[in-house]
Amino acid sequence: MAVTLLKALADPGRLLLARVLSLGTFNVSELTEIADAGQSTVSRNLKILVDAGLLSSRREGRTVYYAWRRDLAPAAASLRTWVEAHGPAIEGDVRRQIHDAWEARRERTASFFATVDPADPAAAWLGSPDCLPLLLEALPDSNTVVDLGTGSGRLLPGLRGRAPNVIGVDASAAMLSEARRRTQDAGLDDIDLRLGDLAHLPLQDHEADAVVANMVLHHLPEPARAFDEIKRVLRPGGTLLIGDFLPHDQEWMRETLADQWLGLAPDDVSHWLDEGGFEAIDVRPIPPNQPGALGVFVARATRV
Ligand SMILES: C[S@@+](CC[C@H](N)C(=O)[O-])C[C@H]1O[C@@H](n2cnc3c(N)ncnc32)[C@H](O)[C@@H]1O
Repeated sequence: MAVTLLKALADPGRLLLARVLSLGTFNVSELTEIADAGQSTVSRNLKILVDAGLLSSRREGRTVYYAWRRDLAPAAASLRTWVEAHGPAIEGDVRRQIHDAWEARRERTASFFATVDPADPAAAWLGSPDCLPLLLEALPDSNTVVDLGTGSGRLLPGLRGRAPNVIGVDASAAMLSEARRRTQDAGLDDIDLRLGDLAHLPLQDHEADAVVANMVLHHLPEPARAFDEIKRVLRPGGTLLIGDFLPHDQEWMRETLADQWLGLAPDDVSHWLDEGGFEAIDVRPIPPNQPGALGVFVARATRV
């Protein structure tokens, strides 16, 4: 066991892949660019790391993503810690390529929502269970609620019915103008709409009592990285509510709707929340309500 683990990392190419994957989840073509190596070499090295029990691979439609396993045996877990502390430095071209990979993912979503007809994305979850009633039910009494990735503002009137201050944030000006039209039509001019990205939220520290993120995490380049910023804007003891798709195989949604991830696994979401400084974590899967529909989940957690 120890020999297999040590052998797996006893190669500069594999050590680099292990170090890069300690920063997030990447697919073979991204890793080929990041490591500046041939695709067959990268694939072979990934297989050795997977076979040694260090990495997991997950197929999403046509793409396979690699990450460090979360259920590492103690010896493998200490190797991961060692790789993070003493593995190859993330600098120069490697650093640039990692940034470019995330930026390419972000840009694909951004350009889609910059030009989309706001009526269209609704089709993606038409026929799937709607998270909105469950999110509203789970929302505690709050003074200020923030709706992240508010889109066309579908959730805003319901949230405003539950809290005096509602802020909608979205990275797309086109989606925000649709949200503005919707809130004005409903006579809700006091809803505060802000242009901004989840990576750098246009909110003060601890500004929110509750944060809602419905159908937005699957659009993010690296959903796990959203939680630091969400934690920053939530007050201690505040509530985070997430609604999103369960894992599915509708590859067309990646192509047509700029989805980065074909749903999110409840285990992953629980893990991110736990690691991200949240407690009282509850992730409730809701299976598809009719043939052909997608399952969803609603997660609730309290900021420590
Ligand atoms: C599928 S829509 C969901 C809209 C709304 N939450 C709902 O449930 O109806 C996703 C929204 O997230 C926004 N979005 C995607 N990535 C984002 C990011 N990094 N920062 C802020 N908003 C983002 C998009 O512009 C889009 O309006």
